Amino acid sequence: MIILGIESSCDDAAAALIEVHQPGRARVLANAVANQDDIHRAYGGVVPELASRNHVITIQPVVERTLAAAGCTFENVSGIAATRGPGLVGSLLVGLMYAKGLAHSTGLPLVGVNHLEGHLLAPMLEHELSMPYLALVVSGGHTSLFVVEDFGRYRALGATRDDAAGEAFDKVAKLMGLGYPGGKVIDELALRGNPRRVRFPRARVKRAPLDFSFSGVKTAVATFLAGEASVATTAEDLAASFQEAVVEMLVQPTISAAREIDAGIVVLTGGVAANSRLRERLGEAVAAEGRRLIAPSFKYCTDNAAMIALAGSYRLLRGERDGLEIDAAANLPL
Ligand code: KG4
Ligand code: ZN
Repeated sequence: MIILGIESSCDDAAAALIEVHQPGRARVLANAVANQDDIHRAYGGVVPELASRNHVITIQPVVERTLAAAGCTFENVSGIAATRGPGLVGSLLVGLMYAKGLAHSTGLPLVGVNHLEGHLLAPMLEHELSMPYLALVVSGGHTSLFVVEDFGRYRALGATRDDAAGEAFDKVAKLMGLGYPGGKVIDELALRGNPRRVRFPRARVKRAPLDFSFSGVKTAVATFLAGEASVATTAEDLAASFQEAVVEMLVQPTISAAREIDAGIVVLTGGVAANSRLRERLGEAVAAEGRRLIAPSFKYCTDNAAMIALAGSYRLLRGERDGLEIDAAANLPL
C-alpha cells in the first residue's frame, strides 16, 4: 500500500510517499521538505506565527511536488498519515487540516500520528530492525530516551528537565553571534577547536540518572562570554568545549539506559543526531559495550514526513482510521 505522510509540527512543511506491505518495512518513493530557516534566521529561533503562516503557503505545493516526484496520483494512494502533535499548535493545525481536507475529498482513510513516534521509528526507513531497541531522540524540541518495545508500545526512560539539546546549541550559537540554526555552525567550528580549553559543568539530575538538563551549560557559556577570560578564547575552542559538555551529558544517560535494559541496538535520531562529535563519542561508547549504534541519514533524522507515513502505516495496514474530528494537540503524550 502507498501512504502519503504529512508533517508540519514546527518550521518544516513536509510530505512523503512510502510503499509498505508489512509494518516497519517501507520503501520511500518521494520525500520533500519546505524548509523555513531563511525566514527564522533573523530572529535566531522559530517564530511560531511566521511558521504557521508559511505552512499555509507551502503545504499544498509540497504535497503536489511529492506526488509528481513519485509519479503518483491520489488513485495510487491508499491512506494518509498526518502529524497531530506534539509541536506548535498553529503549525500542526495547517498540516492536519490539510490532511483532513484531502481525506474528505478523496475518501482515503486518515490516521493522526504522534511526531515522536515518527522519530522513534525513522531508522526503519533504512534498516531492518528488531524490537525492542533503545532510542535517543535529540532535536530542537526534544531530548528523550525511549524503549521501542513494539509498534505502538513505547516506554519513556528519561527526558530533559529544561531545554532540549538542540535548543541549547541554538541559544549558545546566538550568544556567540553565529547565526541560526546553530548546531551545524558549532559542530563545524568545533572541528578546529580544543574541547578541553574550557571546562563547562556537566549537569546531572539528582535521583534521575536517565534525565537530562541543558539550561546550566547554556548559562555557563553566557557567564563565560561576559567575563574577561573569553577575550583570550577562540570561537573554535569555545564551540568545542561547549559541544563536549553537551555530548557527554547525552552519552552518559544513554549508556546507563542501554545497560539497564541490556539493549542490543541503540538508535540515535532527531536533528542533533547530525552532530559529528555525538556520533563519534556515542558510537565508541556503545561499541565498547558490544552494542550497535544506528543513526538514520540526516534527511530522516530531522523532521520529515517519511517517518510520519511509516508511523501511521502499521495502523493503516490493520484497516484502522481516525475520524475527521481528531484535533491537533501541542502536548500530545506518546
Ligand atoms: O529534528 P529537527 O530538524 O527539528 C526539531 O524537531 O527540532 O532538529 C533541529 C535541531 C536544531 O536545534 C539544530 O541546531 C540541531 O537540530 N542540529 C544540530 C546539528 N544539525 C542540526 N545540532 C548539533 N550539531 C549538528 N550538526
Ligand atoms: Zn522533530
